[in-house]
Amino acid sequence: MSGEATTPDGPIIVPLRWWHLPEAAALDARLFRETSWTQETFWAELAAPQREYSAVLDGNDRLLGYAGLAWSAAEADVQTVAVSTELQGNGIGRQLMLRLIEQAGNHGATSLLLEVRADNEPAKHLYTKLGFDRIAVRRGYYQPGNIDAHIMRLRPLHSRN
Ligand SMILES: CC(C)(COP(=O)(O)OP(=O)(O)OC[C@H]1O[C@@H](n2cnc3c(N)ncnc32)[C@H](O)[C@@H]1OP(=O)(O)O)[C@@H](O)C(=O)NCCC(=O)NCCS
Repeated sequence: MSGEATTPDGPIIVPLRWWHLPEAAALDARLFRETSWTQETFWAELAAPQREYSAVLDGNDRLLGYAGLAWSAAEADVQTVAVSTELQGNGIGRQLMLRLIEQAGNHGATSLLLEVRADNEPAKHLYTKLGFDRIAVRRGYYQPGNIDAHIMRLRPLHSRN
């Protein structure tokens, strides 16, 4: 899917492109700190096969958020999803996740997996509301901090608009 989509609050969702990457890496550093992605990581993701990345832009083309999907046969993975701190809680994360779910289905996946920090309550709340179930725990996966990772899965994939 490559068309534009409008979120309820006005920003548009478009494919993430190379010219968004400096802003994406800066936002990633603010949101994920020691586990954030560099611009090079984003470049590698955009260049990799079987990936689809989306960007949320405001009216001045400023990057407000992004999300990425990878797929392989029947399984797809949420690579990342992020919304700038000032705009969180406005439904943008949900819109991005719905887009990933739709894209995963379009690529033939029947399940969508993700990893989330056990202490990330907003994200876990969003995923649970979308129908994801926790299927495994990886103890101490996130370092430093020794925070568990929850593996969550949505299956089957169908729209939760
Ligand atoms: C997780 C994230 C992408 C959600 O994006 P968002 O735009 O804030 O999410 P939405 O506005 O669509 O909210 C979805 C739900 O989460 C809830 N939520 C959002 N922020 C919250 C917060 N700080 N605390 C509790 N719940 C929160 C909303 O209330 C909403 O639930 P509701 O429908 O029951 O009201 C965003 O918080 C984020 O970028 N966090 C930092 C990066 C991150 O942790 N990414 C996920 C890695 S796995």
